[in-house]
Amino acid sequence: MQKLEVFGANKLKGQIEISGSKNASLPILAASLLSYKKVYLNNLPRVKDIETMTSLLKSLGSKIKFKNNKLIIDNTKQNKRFASYSLVKTMRAGILVLGPLLAKFGNAKVSLPGGCAIGTRPVDIHLDALSKLGVKYKIIQGYVYATAPKGLIGSKIRFSKISVGATENLIIAASLAKGTTILSNCAIEPEIKDLVNFLIKSGCNIKWIAKRSLKINGVKEISDISYSIMFDRIEAGTYLIAAAVTEGNLKIKNVIPKIIKTEINILKKIGAKINIKKNEIHIIGNKKIKSINIKTAAYPGFPTDLQAQIMVLLCKANKHSNIKEDIFENRFMHVAELNRMGAKISINGNKAKVNGNVNFAGAELMATDLRASVSLILAALNAKGKSVINRIYHLDRGYENIEKKLKKVGAKIRRVN
Ligand code: UD1
Repeated sequence: MQKLEVFGANKLKGQIEISGSKNASLPILAASLLSYKKVYLNNLPRVKDIETMTSLLKSLGSKIKFKNNKLIIDNTKQNKRFASYSLVKTMRAGILVLGPLLAKFGNAKVSLPGGCAIGTRPVDIHLDALSKLGVKYKIIQGYVYATAPKGLIGSKIRFSKISVGATENLIIAASLAKGTTILSNCAIEPEIKDLVNFLIKSGCNIKWIAKRSLKINGVKEISDISYSIMFDRIEAGTYLIAAAVTEGNLKIKNVIPKIIKTEINILKKIGAKINIKKNEIHIIGNKKIKSINIKTAAYPGFPTDLQAQIMVLLCKANKHSNIKEDIFENRFMHVAELNRMGAKISINGNKAKVNGNVNFAGAELMATDLRASVSLILAALNAKGKSVINRIYHLDRGYENIEKKLKKVGAKIRRVN
């Protein structure tokens, strides 16, 4: 099994190009199933989750190839409606094929996503909302058997809780439903706006009618489309924190800074110097880091996907900070490993008290999920001595060329077998 070796305590300097967003690519790939024609996608990150989603599309009958960095999906013969456990178990976003398959064929059999380390992560909100579009479903031996006897029929749906995935599944399904759907209490993450832009460009009739509400008039089919995926805001946030934690000097390129305003403002409050240009953020880390209290929230709040990374930075603050995790119930698995490196973090339910003034020391470490893995790299970059990070397959799900990008800006990091 591959590992990463990191020799810490040197400052990062240079520039990093941010890749396309994994979390925008996944629903857009699922939405491509609506098409009977061709879909061309640019700026997809080459990471494991994208490979898993394209394997899932292939298993459903899509023909897929990469040409000049562009993914071409040919759905002229796409006709299968069965998403197997083997493909959905490693990636929860597999459930996003349910909406488009139902919209296109009126029936589908899709595996429930496997249990996930960061929480139970049910799909009840997806299923409840789909049933309001006329879907009948049963869950048998881990599979959702769903049919829409009269086809999908537009409806008024208010999500009981803000869910990124459920909002995406419903937007995609309602795009081909008969009549009008109004979705309210939607998630408004930038990746959802990217999905909506993709669908509008392919001929769907979707309008934002209020901050968290969408009006979707179903169309009969979508047209050939070429689309470029937005930047990965979590990757950008991770490298901004990497600069801050190593007292480095980095230019983060290919971004739209206003999309990550919340993160930029927090980093400024903590003490980093930040200069913003049109598609670039220049950050200079400060030796003095101020403590701060943070709680994760749906966009435009602070993202849960950056909670582990900011925690590493707050270990270096002048006083203690508090972090409240309000999205997932079990997303502090990085804490035990960070404490083994010298952090002093205590957990009480969904709250973490992060003591400051920590000097990290390199250690042998175990990655537990995608963002936890990267937080260990950040701590290792700051630590004295060598760290070895095991189980980095988690990392490969979502960070494109991470060691290459870090090496280019001066990190001592290498992958070993
Ligand atoms: C997406 C992101 C993930 C991010 C999360 C929150 C992708 C591929 N993944 O995950 O990186 O951390 O948003 O920003 O884009 N819930 C239910 N029932 C449901 C659905 C969700 O109870 O049917 C709960 C979840 O357990 C969680 C909360 O709602 O506690 C938010 O989950 P959701 O927004 O749906 O996250 P994902 O779409 O899974």
